[in-house]
Amino acid sequence: MNIEAKTVDESRVETVHIVRPNHLNGANRLFGGILMQWIDEVAGIVAKRHSMSNVTTASVDNLTFLHGAYQNEMVVIQGKMTWVGTSSMEVCVDTYVENHLGERRRINNAHFMMVALDENDNPVRVPRLTLQTEDEHLAWAHGEERRRIRNQRKKDKLDGI
Ligand SMILES: CC(C)(COP(=O)(O)OP(=O)(O)OC[C@H]1O[C@@H](n2cnc3c(N)ncnc32)[C@H](O)[C@@H]1OP(=O)(O)O)[C@@H](O)C(=O)NCCC(=O)NCCS
Repeated sequence: MNIEAKTVDESRVETVHIVRPNHLNGANRLFGGILMQWIDEVAGIVAKRHSMSNVTTASVDNLTFLHGAYQNEMVVIQGKMTWVGTSSMEVCVDTYVENHLGERRRINNAHFMMVALDENDNPVRVPRLTLQTEDEHLAWAHGEERRRIRNQRKKDKLDGI
């Protein structure tokens, strides 16, 4: 199927988890590695929905733990496409703790770079992103800036800096 472009809403994902005893670290908070798995899965599903292909995580930027989460709390994870290149896609993932009144407190934010792969694991072209709101245009502009910084960082890594 050859789809030229998709909107942000077409690939948006929200998942919900309850923090169980087996998700806790030694300090009785949600273990960071568990949350990273949950948010990586959300980023992967957003990227799969947009690209309609297999995807892999190329890098993660700005992964920031703002607050902890505790046993029995409800953790809501939202992922959305913010920018696309040729085969790469930037997915913004926000994580919240939601209380019984439905109020949400953001506890984590990260930007995932996902790459679409063909059946031979080679990068493959993805649909363009149709921007419909001012926020989506702003997120795209920030995504362009992050790509510039990321490219420089990758060059530095390859140069051993
Ligand atoms: C991601 C991967 C497929 C890129 O392969 P590559 O040979 O570097 O491919 P290219 O140089 O053609 O890059 C393909 C795209 O990925 C982007 N990309 C590559 N490395 C990147 C990185 N570290 N960060 C962000 N984007 C990256 C490129 O900018 C390019 O984007 P574009 O097509 O939109 O212009 C390859 O590095 C890989 O397989 N890495 C391992 C991924 C993995 O196993 N993840 C799971 C971790 S457990």
